[in-house]
Amino acid sequence: MSETTIAFNPPRIQVPPHPQWPELDDAEKTALKTRIKRLLKEHDALLVAHYYTDGDLQALAEETGGCVADSLEMARFGSETDAKTLVVCGVRFMGETAKILNPEKRVLMPELKATCSLDEGCPAEAFSAFCDRHPDHTVVVYANTSAEVKARADWMVTSSIALPIVKHLKEQGKKVLWAPDKHLGHYIEQVTGVDMLLWPGACVVHEEFKSVALERLRRLHPDAAVLVHPESPDEIVEQADVVGSTTALINAVASMDNPEFIVATDEGIFWKMRQLAPDKKLIAAPTAGEGATCESCAHCPWMAMNALQNLEQVLLGGDNEIHIDEAIRRRAVLPIQRMLDFARQQSD
Ligand code: 13P
Ligand code: SF4
Repeated sequence: MSETTIAFNPPRIQVPPHPQWPELDDAEKTALKTRIKRLLKEHDALLVAHYYTDGDLQALAEETGGCVADSLEMARFGSETDAKTLVVCGVRFMGETAKILNPEKRVLMPELKATCSLDEGCPAEAFSAFCDRHPDHTVVVYANTSAEVKARADWMVTSSIALPIVKHLKEQGKKVLWAPDKHLGHYIEQVTGVDMLLWPGACVVHEEFKSVALERLRRLHPDAAVLVHPESPDEIVEQADVVGSTTALINAVASMDNPEFIVATDEGIFWKMRQLAPDKKLIAAPTAGEGATCESCAHCPWMAMNALQNLEQVLLGGDNEIHIDEAIRRRAVLPIQRMLDFARQQSD
């Protein structure tokens, strides 16, 4: 079993309530979208949105030449466009990754307080001390970390490329120190057979899926395929037909013949799944049941801080800009670039 006991107790994460955005009628929404489109043009700006954000934001990103994607594609898109400004609709680490890769671009976010429980649960100082105690390990961090934590890493990975990169390290005979998601780390460890040291972090959204209730739901829907993001606990992953990144789960809905899918990830992903496969029935994996706290109810409260309303505000004010200390940025870019280079070689 991996060493997961370290001289550090992860902080109790304060999960904010979901923000309540005022309802907009169709006319108000259309007018707001028109104003945002004009502002995007004026600022030479593009939207880079994650699949977990509100469907209106995803639609707007697509309509205006931006991108809707998983964490890997979001990072790639920012580097490939000529736009002077990137407006990242997602959580803080996504905006920081965009800025680390594109220091010459202005990177804005609708809400800078949109964090992530994995990022919050991995403070840079404690993490650096953990790395210092294991100098013989290659440090692999998940994208869901601060710029300071990335600056301490050898590799950064996202869920869509974590397995091939860790397999590659195994072939080189490396030992891996992994942070911060213990569930994703454990999943990678099981699939690759690499002995990994795991940081004890977790995603507050995926941790809430309930295995007994999921078993019951599967019995009620025997034709449904179960799709699981690997940030989920072991007992959920074990019940999956497909385990993968947000992009992999979306592709599964579009390509598999099943009429129904039980989906164990943030429900924001349903917007893209419905767009690609309107005839398929999507069922949210259960977060209720025994022991349920339902702090997130399968929707990330930080992703929910992104809305049309604050997107317009940030474009009007030009504030909420991401800034990163240049010394940190120069170190943090190395593990990210290593991942992007590896991804490019794989696709060649
Ligand atoms: P993906 O890279 O699969 O989009 O995941 C990002 C994330 O934060 C999942 O919770
Ligand atoms: Fe972080 Fe979980 Fe929200 Fe993804 S869903 S941003 S891992 S808290």
